[in-house]
Amino acid sequence: MFKRKPGHRINDLFIKRWSPRAMSGEALDHEKLLELFEAARWAPSSYNGQPWRFIYAHRDTSHWEKLFGLLVPFNQSWVNRASVLVVIISKKTFEYNDKTARTHSFDTGSAWMSLALQGSMNGLVVHGMEGFDYEKAREVLRIPEDFVIEAMCAIGKPGKKEDLSAELQEREEPSDRRPLEDVVYDGVFSKAVV
Ligand SMILES: Cc1cc2nc3c(=O)[nH]c(=O)nc-3n(C[C@H](O)[C@H](O)[C@H](O)COP(=O)(O)O)c2cc1C
Repeated sequence: MFKRKPGHRINDLFIKRWSPRAMSGEALDHEKLLELFEAARWAPSSYNGQPWRFIYAHRDTSHWEKLFGLLVPFNQSWVNRASVLVVIISKKTFEYNDKTARTHSFDTGSAWMSLALQGSMNGLVVHGMEGFDYEKAREVLRIPEDFVIEAMCAIGKPGKKEDLSAELQEREEPSDRRPLEDVVYDGVFSKAVV
């Protein structure tokens, strides 16, 4: 099942992280969730601005329906067995001078990756999502205008592939990547082979 083969020597954690959809539907201890946010907390950011913010909801709580209701039906079809939903947002300006933080999304992206890697190392499913209503999220979660809504993620305990629809079972395996030569250029931009 696990087909990923790195082209160079890298730590296993990078290829072992992937985005399954099968989850058990069990709750996750809050302390276990905090471990993932703690990993995100140590991400690097321009001027150490730490623009990332995370709005979470555990399943079986009053907040869950609010976050779950933002998702497109396709995502709802498998996220219903997640333990936690998270909306990831990013502050557009620096707190120390109110000026535009050019790399705020980049910084928040690295925090998200730390969260995802820690989740994977802890044996959890962490699956990023853009399939949700961004405008409704701003309204329902009362997100101020100086924050960009970046993405959501579902976190859960691994489940059985058989609990997914036939179509999703087909897709339930780690994906491959384009070759390094397509994305790494020596000194000057060169058109990638598409
Ligand atoms: C920001 C972001 C948004 C995504 N949106 C969705 C989504 O709405 N629904 C979904 O099923 N998967 C979504 N994915 C999962 C990607 O399809 C997946 O990460 C990609 O195919 C690479 O596979 P891997 O994470 O297993 O390595 C998203 C991933 C990211 C990082």
